[in-house]
Amino acid sequence: MSDQLTLLDRLGEQPADALLALIALAEADPRPTKIDVGVGVYRDAAGNTPILRAVKKAELILWETQETKSYLGSQGDARFVELIKPIVFGEAGARDDRIVGVQTPGGCGALRLGAELIAKADPTARILVGTPTWPNHEPLIGAAGVAMVDYPYYDKAATTIRFDAMVDALNGASAGDLVLLHGCCHNPTGADLNLDQWRVVAEIVAARGLIPFVDIAYQGLGDGLEADAAGACLVVEAAEQAIIAQSCDKNFGCYRDRLGSLFVKMPTVAGAEKVMGNLLGLARTMWSMPPDHMAATVRIILDDPELAADWRAELTEMGARIRQLRAKLAAADPRLAYIAGQKGMFSMLPISPQQVLNLREKHGLYMAGSGRFNVVGLSDSNVDYFANAVIEELDG
Ligand SMILES: Cc1ncc(COP(=O)(O)O)c(C=O)c1O
Repeated sequence: MSDQLTLLDRLGEQPADALLALIALAEADPRPTKIDVGVGVYRDAAGNTPILRAVKKAELILWETQETKSYLGSQGDARFVELIKPIVFGEAGARDDRIVGVQTPGGCGALRLGAELIAKADPTARILVGTPTWPNHEPLIGAAGVAMVDYPYYDKAATTIRFDAMVDALNGASAGDLVLLHGCCHNPTGADLNLDQWRVVAEIVAARGLIPFVDIAYQGLGDGLEADAAGACLVVEAAEQAIIAQSCDKNFGCYRDRLGSLFVKMPTVAGAEKVMGNLLGLARTMWSMPPDHMAATVRIILDDPELAADWRAELTEMGARIRQLRAKLAAADPRLAYIAGQKGMFSMLPISPQQVLNLREKHGLYMAGSGRFNVVGLSDSNVDYFANAVIEELDG
């Protein structure tokens, strides 16, 4: 045996995933008052992450009616893609043949496929990314080789969007630059652009020839399905070319089943068809074809008016519960008032990593080191406990 390392011995140690490590810490905490607001999943009043009623019913129908599990193509379930398109783009967008789409393994798959498409088109392409952003954007997009350039998005201490600085950064971008935008329910801050701000971004995108790359993973959990996509639709309409990564994992509660889609808008139908060919080719190099189960389930739901209405109703209930918890936190102290105006599962506390640690050690509150917490990880019975602990920490 030579003392040279064999191939796989050359790999370095990888740091543990911070959020997964946090879940393990929370689980090991024996205090009955502990609260895990780290993990990003919806929880109902009982603390469960439920399977939605319509999903259960549709899975039963699928089980009874599916006759084969033979291969589908790289596009996945084409009818699913057709049915999700109007939800994201509205009826007019759904009829636009310059927008093409494929099913992907979750929003992560969509983001990665979009990044691969960009890198294939131009290995020197740049994408402007707001700070802070979801920590996985960096590895997902960066791994494809797309250069990432920061733009200021959110002032954590002031708990406000840095809109002027964002506008300055976008105005300084070059034609053909991409700009990553959270469609709604910004992760990690909960701070969404309002419609007037979206209009300004749309104008800049059009004037400067920028290409929006919209990540929409929480549609329906902010102000409702339509309202949550309104800003993104403005930007997509204004842009000649656009990329939209969509996830069903939160709004259909099917996290582990991995369902999403990637849409691309081009100036012409012929251009869109060419992009479609490239998407299929790239998908083949990664997952060949996406998993079918949840796409078929969502297709059954959206093709059935009764199931679709039930899904919308349950999603509306979920959004209302999030807004209720937000209102409760906001009412607890003027320094938390900003939480009521934010959207979706997450908000970020204006506290230091040391204060995050204090909250964990003194009170058993488990949140990301950035101060990001999952609002809907709370329940009616512990929201006051959480608020009081945070207020104590803010008081120093
Ligand atoms: C901002 C954002 N984008 C995309 C995703 C991808 O979601 P998934 O791959 O689970 O569908 C997530 C999930 O947490 C997210 O927070």
